Amino acid sequence: MNFESLEDIANHIVSEGKGILAADESTPTITKRFDTIDTESTEENRRDYRELLFRAVGMKNNIGGVILFDETLRQEAKDGTMLSDIIYAQGALPGIKVDKGIKPLDSSPDENLTQGLDGLDERCAEYFSLGAKFTKWRAVIKQDGSFPSDDCLKANMEALAEYAKIVQNNNMVPIVEPEVLMDGSHSIEDCYSATSRALEMLFNSLTDHEVNIKGTILKPNMVTSGSTASEQANISLVAEKTVKCLQNSLPDDLPAVTFLSGGQSDIDSTAHLDKMNKISSNPWKLSFSYGRALQQAALKAWSGNVENETAAQEAFSHRAKMNKLAALGEWESSLEN
Ligand code: 13P
Repeated sequence: MNFESLEDIANHIVSEGKGILAADESTPTITKRFDTIDTESTEENRRDYRELLFRAVGMKNNIGGVILFDETLRQEAKDGTMLSDIIYAQGALPGIKVDKGIKPLDSSPDENLTQGLDGLDERCAEYFSLGAKFTKWRAVIKQDGSFPSDDCLKANMEALAEYAKIVQNNNMVPIVEPEVLMDGSHSIEDCYSATSRALEMLFNSLTDHEVNIKGTILKPNMVTSGSTASEQANISLVAEKTVKCLQNSLPDDLPAVTFLSGGQSDIDSTAHLDKMNKISSNPWKLSFSYGRALQQAALKAWSGNVENETAAQEAFSHRAKMNKLAALGEWESSLEN
């Protein structure tokens, strides 16, 4: 596939309601996921699991991009085909996670700063030569009492902007992911305020660094109640608050917002996205870039057993299709049965 510009790449990823499969779990994270199905996290098992997802029928028409971890971008399928070529053959683009995880922030050690700017330019040049068309960098923002601090937001949004500029210089589309975590007992209003602060600082930093917004994708959290809050906002309120928060902070020339699922259930992730698309019309597309919400049913169905591959592919294809419908505002809960 040939693209004239970063804008073309971004628009391809979210064309016709398509979204992103986040399959970029680091080795420790995928090991945790495999532990839940009593499966050993060997290189071969990781390959087999990801290969079954990428070959699933539901990739076509529903998934426009797949975020990979370094190992997967270099990996071959059982028959020797590069896994990235299987993704291309499904009409989707391979992307790559380029951050190096988090470390405590010097000025506020209970908060974190995402690492990975050292050597990023060289890594990006190699990833581009391996076929990657886009990248991801995740900032992790805690909310709890006095958090997030201004220092934490400033440092992380500055790093996201520096990252985005380096990636664009290497002809790939940066996904900028400021994840305000759901963990905690905070209210939906607190989440609205933390998310607004993060987005405002992010777009100021992107502008300061002369990042091309038309060639950038935003991957934010939705505005929700904390995961342990006694009162949980309903689907409509989450959709309304999230859309309002985005409308206040995002420039019109941003092509797409692809949400993370962040620990929401499969159905909530789909229902929230669908509701937002039903109640609003925006200059940017609203779609998905889910990890757990696209994979957990498939992972369980697979359970590390080759005989379950078809069932796992069906589970993944179903979620991919439901989320595409949600990105078009055409999902109904009855379609889940
Ligand atoms: P979840 O959808 O599981 O939150 O993962 C998305 C992701 O890529 C986090 O960085």
